[in-house]
Amino acid sequence: MAIEFTLNGRPASTALDPQTPLLWVLRDELGLNGTKFGCGKGLCGVCTVHLDGAAVRACALPVALVAGKSVLTIEGLGAEGLHPLQQAWIAENTPQCGYCQPGQIMAAAALLATNPQPNDAEIDAAMSGNLCRCGTYPRIRRAIQR
Ligand code: FES
Repeated sequence: MAIEFTLNGRPASTALDPQTPLLWVLRDELGLNGTKFGCGKGLCGVCTVHLDGAAVRACALPVALVAGKSVLTIEGLGAEGLHPLQQAWIAENTPQCGYCQPGQIMAAAALLATNPQPNDAEIDAAMSGNLCRCGTYPRIRRAIQR
């Protein structure tokens, strides 16, 4: 039986095993490659997407748990032109290799949705689960402040 959900504002469904991680449904079945694979354990944040507005780790989330819910990916965030966060990321020249950045932006978007003017400590707390091997943390913080 298909699992139905909303993906970036549109109906989506999958007939894959309900235990399949959402990440693989997004990337391999639905062709949305903006969400990246990192640790596969929900620990590094690279695969961050929104589920009903909250930041979640797509690599560790069985797709069964998104049934009837709304998923937003980096593709949906910028669906109507660059999102202000993406513009800020460009203005601050934030990425280095770039691999972690879709997850960083999605985590930042979830933060700003509930706290539009976070201070440094609040940014650090909210972003602490999103690792960056290139050490772009100062630029990420500046982009969020912008
Ligand atoms: Fe390279 Fe973050 S920009 S891992």
